[in-house]
Amino acid sequence: MARVLLKDLTKKFGTVTAVDKVNLEVRDKEFLVLVGPSGCGKTTALRCVAGLEEVSSGQVQIGDRVVNDVMPKDRDIAMVFQNYALYPHMNVYDNMAFGLRLRMLPPWYKGLFQMSEVRQTKGSIDRRVKDTAEMLGLTHLLKRRPKELSGGQRQRVALGRAIVREPAAFLMDEPLSNLDAKLRVQTRAELIKLHVRLGITTIYVTHDQVEAMTMGDRIAVMKDGLVQQCDRPLEIYNHPANLFVAGFIGSPEMNLLEATVKASNGDILVDAGSYQVNMPEKHKESLKPYVGKSVRFGIRPEDIYDKSISLIPAQPGNTIGVQVEITEPMGSSVLLELDPGDGKTLTANAGADTKARIGEPLEVVLDMSKAHIFDAETEEAVF
Ligand SMILES: Nc1ncnc2c1ncn2[C@@H]1O[C@H](COP(=O)(O)OP(=O)(O)O)[C@@H](O)[C@H]1O
Ligand SMILES: [Mg+2]
Repeated sequence: MARVLLKDLTKKFGTVTAVDKVNLEVRDKEFLVLVGPSGCGKTTALRCVAGLEEVSSGQVQIGDRVVNDVMPKDRDIAMVFQNYALYPHMNVYDNMAFGLRLRMLPPWYKGLFQMSEVRQTKGSIDRRVKDTAEMLGLTHLLKRRPKELSGGQRQRVALGRAIVREPAAFLMDEPLSNLDAKLRVQTRAELIKLHVRLGITTIYVTHDQVEAMTMGDRIAVMKDGLVQQCDRPLEIYNHPANLFVAGFIGSPEMNLLEATVKASNGDILVDAGSYQVNMPEKHKESLKPYVGKSVRFGIRPEDIYDKSISLIPAQPGNTIGVQVEITEPMGSSVLLELDPGDGKTLTANAGADTKARIGEPLEVVLDMSKAHIFDAETEEAVF
């Protein structure tokens, strides 16, 4: 068991800075998800931890050791990739046992070992492989070769191969990307259960914010080689630190609108052009410096209610008239694309029994207690 510590970790490829002074502590037994759009430096950061890339500057610490100069095989980590990388000519059992044999029975030791010791070691490898196979539901597949397995089964073998090593930390790079949607959700759940059971420190890379939200003890959101925010999933969802995180985490995306802050009769309003809404009492103080200025106003789709079935009371300061452009029934809810009159679409996630009809007007209620404001220049969250 170990924590992993990145200190000012930087990796440059020529003029490209793939990872830019990243500071991150992955706690012992924690499942930390590195998430961000393609090209933001996730894989590079992970490869630096694994020792597959030499860092340009900064430090990688695993447990109590600085491992910058430690060979990958000596870092006590196991990596799982998107493209399983199984040995095609070996069966499942040997794919899982191979690394252990190399480690525990290196050929140059053979002369030194007593036969009884060799037998004992082989026995313990056998037990580890079989226990892991049992845990992953692979027992009946041990004799098969990778090409005789489905994608999901191959992924489980790749996982099994990492688990038998009993490493200090797992590093996983988009391990579910090659699976179809249903299997991905299933395997996601299996991975979480497995992590609860094994409690091994894990860094999990994905571009999928749903995976990040559902799997991570904490999430580190990356963009352009920089960590934008690192916190527990709901903390990030409810309090995104900046405009990028606000737009990246959450599906459908948060509505982010250009608006102006105004003061009127002791109230603070946000004027989005074709409508005005009142900011709640709790935010008045922090908005005072912004009066008269442009900001970005953010509100999540699920915080916009069809007035006829609204869970929060409609008031003049939180209710607006819109035109329904599109309705997308999802079964448990209906996604609405709404035009408040300025063509800047608002997306709402309304209850399944919404009366909204395409082309008709609708009144919607905004839960302003959940509103977000971002500084237009720095893009940092005001709240
Ligand atoms: N071996 C390499 N040589 C040059 N540039 C690279 C190399 N690997 C990655 N990069 C660049 O570093 C940046 C981050 O890449 P990567 O870590 O693969 O991102 P991600 O995994 O988040 O999609 C990208 O701009 C990519 O083009
Ligand atoms: Mg990648």
